[in-house]
Amino acid sequence: MAKRVLVSGGAGYIGSHVTVELIAAGYDVVVADNMSNCDMTCFEGVKKITGRDDIPFELTDCCDAAAVDRLFTDYQIDAVIHFAAYKAVGESVAEPIMYYRNNLVSFLNILESAKNHGGCNVLFSSSATVYGEAEDLPVTEQTPRLPATSPYGNTKQICEDILRDVVKATAINDGTDGRGPVKGIALRYFNPIGAHPSALIGELPRGVPNNLVPFITQTAIGKRECLNIFGNDYPTEDGTCLRDYIDIVDLAKAHVAAVSRMIDGKMKEGYEIFNIGTGRPVSVYELVTTFEKVNGVKLAYRFAPRRPGDVVAIWADTSLANEELGWKATRSVEDTLASAWAWEKHLAEK
Ligand code: UFG
Repeated sequence: MAKRVLVSGGAGYIGSHVTVELIAAGYDVVVADNMSNCDMTCFEGVKKITGRDDIPFELTDCCDAAAVDRLFTDYQIDAVIHFAAYKAVGESVAEPIMYYRNNLVSFLNILESAKNHGGCNVLFSSSATVYGEAEDLPVTEQTPRLPATSPYGNTKQICEDILRDVVKATAINDGTDGRGPVKGIALRYFNPIGAHPSALIGELPRGVPNNLVPFITQTAIGKRECLNIFGNDYPTEDGTCLRDYIDIVDLAKAHVAAVSRMIDGKMKEGYEIFNIGTGRPVSVYELVTTFEKVNGVKLAYRFAPRRPGDVVAIWADTSLANEELGWKATRSVEDTLASAWAWEKHLAEK
């Protein structure tokens, strides 16, 4: 029988791409989402891409412990991928209680049910934000985490630590009273961008986008007047920040590799961490001009003051993921930016 993966936050940007790749790899999926930051567009897109009309969807708020536990009672779950979280850095600074409550309580509920239903494999969606302004680049998984500069970033660090501690504490569970061991992987994403090649799923930010690529595509389509490039006086070649932009489909495939590693019993430790990026730094300016070139569009942009809280440069050493997960980013930044534009145009036609 196919193994089943619960994807919390599965109707969102990353969750929908991961659901597609899990199904392509032969897994059964249960999507749970409270729809607080998305609509059904991507879930409908997932059904079209996979040709599967029968993917179970559960309208669940992971902060509701009883509702989470019901999922584990109703379905035999072999692994959980936990995406259900708030993710806007600026908003987290303004609303720390909301962020800590939502991001921590939902994860605690998942872990508690995972433990009490015979144990489970848990994949946590972490972020390169845990490295902060790292001195040595590229960063490896051993690069020390720096104190978080936002409540959002702090929730990523705290959830990593919670997972580590729960793995350690539950390792002794032998099934008595239904309690089993929790195994965990944290994937630290760099900057996920782009959309599925079908243009049926992609990023759907509510309101004004915080992130670069949705702002670029919305400016190109005419929804925004002008892109602000935050800072051109950084100590980099062209003065703009450097990031490691990882294609969303490549990122989704890393989740399949990590889930298979857990389910197939290939982990070397009960808790493991992997950087998920390309290993290649790209400047904001380079990304903007590549977008223009690949898609044949002229983008209105201007140089603006630095955005508070931005790090100058961060990119990944991905050797560990390459070797241990047998995974590597394959899609070029050109193809990814073409997919982002195709998605924006698809939205405009709807
Ligand atoms: N940028 C612009 N103009 C914009 C938006 C972004 O110039 O309108 C620049 C930023 O200054 C930065 C780069 O584009 O240099 C990338 O910015 P994003 O907001 O797309 O991504 P970040 O690197 O800031 O954010 C990522 C993740 C977050 C995470 C954060 C931590 O998306 O989840 O890293 O640093 F918290």
